[in-house]
Amino acid sequence: MTEITFYVARADNGVIGKDGALPWHLPDDLKHFKKQTMGKPLVMGRRTFESFPKPLPGRRHIVLTRDPAWSRPGAEVAHDVDAAIALAGDVPEIAGVSAGGMPDRVIHDAKAVVRALAATGYRPPAPADLAVFGAPLAAELNLGVHLMRQAGHITEYEAHIARKLAYVLCGGDVTRQSTAPEQYFLDLEREAFKSLCGEQKTLARMEHLLKKGKVLRN
Ligand SMILES: NC(=O)c1ccc[n+]([C@@H]2O[C@H](COP(=O)([O-])OP(=O)(O)OC[C@H]3O[C@@H](n4cnc5c(N)ncnc54)[C@H](OP(=O)(O)O)[C@@H]3O)[C@@H](O)[C@H]2O)c1
Repeated sequence: MTEITFYVARADNGVIGKDGALPWHLPDDLKHFKKQTMGKPLVMGRRTFESFPKPLPGRRHIVLTRDPAWSRPGAEVAHDVDAAIALAGDVPEIAGVSAGGMPDRVIHDAKAVVRALAATGYRPPAPADLAVFGAPLAAELNLGVHLMRQAGHITEYEAHIARKLAYVLCGGDVTRQSTAPEQYFLDLEREAFKSLCGEQKTLARMEHLLKKGKVLRN
């Protein structure tokens, strides 16, 4: 899925530009912008593109304009926000260079899409079940815990906590591989946590972490 991130430098009073240019010269901010956007397609309004002396290196420039005749070297032209997003293609992130109220338009368009989906009775798909590896994997993890204990890397109580974790991650005592909803694992986790909370050494760990900000290796 493509994320659209807006990169905006904005004064406290809301100003982002003056007379077709930036109202300030902040080299560190320009460096930061370059670092954040390098390699990502930029989507911007026509006036912003025209404010650059030349296209910025290492980035595609997708330029919004309603003028069907407009074109410039280094600019990929889009006549609406949908077309701009489509032009960017299957990328993890589009860098929106904020101008011309484009964020408002994108939010407006996004709301329209969500409303249209809701009107068709759309429901998000049910979350997929997770793999339960059960006792065979737990045995392997517990062997690892045993070896770490033998080598003196963890305390006996840490081994005890690790075995509880293995139990939760493997989906309990089941002997065959299967699948289960996420809630099944959350229930196991809650049970394990509650049982640890009933032990003096876990309470001592919590108290130590809260008071001293460090893990107690008891
Ligand atoms: N501080 C910052 O972070 C920052 C970032 C970027 C720019 N800026 C500054 O902001 C100023 C420029 O911004 P601006 O708001 O005046 O102009 P702009 O958004 O860069 O450009 C406006 C133009 O973009 C086109 N456009 C915008 N939305 C469109 C849409 N949904 N569909 C089709 N075309 C669309 C239209 O072009 P046509 O007129 O050709 O149809 C519109 O006139 C400059 O001063 C610049 O330096 C500041």
